[in-house]
Amino acid sequence: MNSPVRIVEVGPRDGLQNEKAIVPATVKIELIRRLIQSGLKSVEVTSFVSPKWVPQMADNTEVLTAVLKEYSANPQLSFPVLTPNVKGMESAIEAGAKEVAIFAAASESFSQKNINCSIAESLQRFEPLMQMAIDHNIKVRGYVSCIVQCPYEGEVSPQATANVTKALHDLGCYEVSLGDTVGAGNPSSISRAIEACAAYVPVAQLAGHYHDTGLQAIANIRASLDLGVRVFDSSVAGLGGCPYAPGAAGNVATEKVLALMNELGFETGVDALALKACAEWIRGQIQLVKQGNLR
Ligand code: HMG
Ligand code: MG
Repeated sequence: MNSPVRIVEVGPRDGLQNEKAIVPATVKIELIRRLIQSGLKSVEVTSFVSPKWVPQMADNTEVLTAVLKEYSANPQLSFPVLTPNVKGMESAIEAGAKEVAIFAAASESFSQKNINCSIAESLQRFEPLMQMAIDHNIKVRGYVSCIVQCPYEGEVSPQATANVTKALHDLGCYEVSLGDTVGAGNPSSISRAIEACAAYVPVAQLAGHYHDTGLQAIANIRASLDLGVRVFDSSVAGLGGCPYAPGAAGNVATEKVLALMNELGFETGVDALALKACAEWIRGQIQLVKQGNLR
């Protein structure tokens, strides 16, 4: 095989947004440095959401500007940030973002709980944001949450997921990442969701974003690979969850994804030992923050 798989590291955002302890910006910046040193090329660094909703990401400007300053000379690296609305987009642009991610849900209740509006309203909100992205030459990635299961409504139909995926693609997202937010998917349900989306969006423009609550994420990635998906989101040390998805565990650990890709012969460019050391380091740092020994 040896065909490439792209890993989008989401630990600094999806991981740390769900840590009760607020990790200092200096630690986040060092984490991103270590992730890049391990060979990762796409690292989602923060989110420009309301600090009242997610205080863990309130240092978004400090983190993004520091990272962009350090790596501006390397065009192969990307540092996407979440933007839920025009206000978030304005702040991201001011901080120098070159790539953003918009996020919608396949379930109405989750959309309300997560971003305080309906699915249709969220898509409308993204329209002016997409225009800003064009004006500033910014790439836009899309997320669909709750692709198989919603923490408030239960099962989500493949067609509901496909409709939102298509809408994000039609809006101009270069890639849509399919989120099993609560980690309740299995290879059958994830495959049905991907197949439904693939009726509207080329598989090459779909990514898998699987939380590992049910310990099925690696099996789900295998099933996704079988269907041609070649981009996967993961968090170093399996950090993460979503503050608005109660009980959801972290993203699948980047170390586990890397081990699978190495086993199957897919190229990622990531060094397993450096990544393992990075995972141990961030676990230690979070422990220090929790003990009150690091602020
Ligand atoms: P809202 O309260 O409806 O917003 O929140 P609003 O427009 O009514 O504004 C209320 C206040 O928030 C105002 O301030 C605004 O200025 C401010 P005030 O006048 O009261 O002082 N505000 C903002 N401040 C900073 N940045 C902004 C912003 N927008 C408004 N961008 C909003 C709506 C979308 C802002 C809110 O619901 C929010 O921030 N939600 C984000 C929740 C979140 O981050 N969830 C986790 C990320 S999604 C995820 O993890 C899933 C994913 O991983 C995929 C998967 O696993 O499925 C991506
Ligand atoms: Mg997530």
